[in-house]
Amino acid sequence: MKSFANLLRYCLIVLLVQSVIADESTAISKVEEFGGQVLGIAQNTEGVRVLIPPKTFEGRVLTDADLAVLKEINQIVELDLKNAGISDAGLAHLASLSSLERLHLEKTKITDAGLAHLKGLSKLKYLNLYGTGVSDSGLEALKSFKSLENLYLWQTKVTFDAAKAFHQAQTAAGNDKLEINLGWDKEILSKARLASLKEQRQKLESEANESEASSEVAVVEDPDFKTHILPILQNSCVKCHGEEKQKDDLRLDTFAHTLKGSEHGAVVVAEDLIGSSLFQRITLPADDDDIMPPKGGPLAKNEIALIKNWIANGAKAEAEIKAPAPKIAEKKASGSSVFVEYVLPILTESCTDCHGPDKQKAGLRLDTIAAVAKGSKEGAVVKAGSPDESSLYQRIVLPADHDDIMPPKGDPLTKAQTDLIKLWIVSGAN
Ligand code: HEC
Ligand code: HEC
Repeated sequence: MKSFANLLRYCLIVLLVQSVIADESTAISKVEEFGGQVLGIAQNTEGVRVLIPPKTFEGRVLTDADLAVLKEINQIVELDLKNAGISDAGLAHLASLSSLERLHLEKTKITDAGLAHLKGLSKLKYLNLYGTGVSDSGLEALKSFKSLENLYLWQTKVTFDAAKAFHQAQTAAGNDKLEINLGWDKEILSKARLASLKEQRQKLESEANESEASSEVAVVEDPDFKTHILPILQNSCVKCHGEEKQKDDLRLDTFAHTLKGSEHGAVVVAEDLIGSSLFQRITLPADDDDIMPPKGGPLAKNEIALIKNWIANGAKAEAEIKAPAPKIAEKKASGSSVFVEYVLPILTESCTDCHGPDKQKAGLRLDTIAAVAKGSKEGAVVKAGSPDESSLYQRIVLPADHDDIMPPKGDPLTKAQTDLIKLWIVSGAN
């Protein structure tokens, strides 16, 4: 009798194990159907990395409900949901992933409410919330984490003070490894890193004392292109944006080329850091897909600071000449149209197939300034000075999977492009 019971138990266990394996492999093939990947971590290390793309191969946008399959996969150590169209409800499916150490949520639609689902993920070491709607009160949910080492909060609503307070609370609770990143020049470092940086600095100083010359480039307040900026670009950019190769049709090997910009328009707008995609692209988090240079790590902080000062002070060619690059306001005054130079190239590339001479969807043409001013059959699409009331701007900054986004097909406009259009509307839309 006893052996029969044992046999039964054995059969049950075999069945159970098999069904667990079957569920897991179904879940893995489902992730792969999405266009995602389930990868091993490293030899002799248990656990898997799961990468979930924003869209399936067929172009369907992934939804919160799709994340339910994750529960069936054992030992997810790393989960990458960057850019995925998921929101707070989707994070409920992560609550049981207790092995999770690295979680990418950057550029998703999550907010503070979603973070509440992550409370139990006590092994989390890396959390990237860059470009999400998280704010100060969202940090509450992260309080229980004891192993958190890297927290990315670039372009969120979290304030520096709240981040600092969170960091202090973690340190007080015994976690002295935490580093928080709020922007390229706003970092809250761990004790260990501070100590090693101090050591490095002391070493540099003593070396400098020995040889008189420090390798560090000094950050001058009012740099000019030839003396300060060109050497940086030659070092880090010209091999892809120079005479031989011109990625995105952009050359950065002379002053004139740099100001001319790329196939998408200007990359440097004097006195406007937000409108200057060159600045935006060098100040992204190091693991962002769009960071420049794409490989080899970000530029040094003092190099970024020089470029920042250069643009902020008028993007001058040479100190002696003191010729500032034309500002948008000056271009307007000189009669050359900001619309023609900056905005029209974007509309011609992405909009005029449907809003041009051949087709006028919604009765709207976007191929001349007069046509843009005339608007659609519904009325005006641009209100000078007010991007918020301009449907032309509103429709290009919708989430990529929104039914109303323009252009309706293909890639959305880049941040640099939407920023330029915003700037043009703010400065009077002429
Ligand atoms: C290894 C090659 C490579 C290097 C080095 C490189 N880039 Fe790029 N860059 C690219 C590619 C490819 C693109 C187009 C794809 C994209 O937009 O990411 C690009 C695009 C850009 C754009 C966007 C242009 C636009 O149309 O708005 C800017 C700005 C830019 N790079 C600036 C820089 C700067 C500044 C550096 C140096 C700090 C640099 N790049 C170094 C390859 C490179
Ligand atoms: C593939 C064709 C296509 C492309 C490309 C396209 N649109 Fe549209 N657009 C439409 C259609 C169809 C409508 C009408 C339906 C709707 O409102 O969604 C429309 C409507 C609009 C409207 C609303 C007009 C109104 O008052 O009702 C605006 C504004 C607009 N588009 C701007 C743009 C901009 C800006 C671009 C380029 C960034 C663009 N569109 C690219 C097809 C397109």
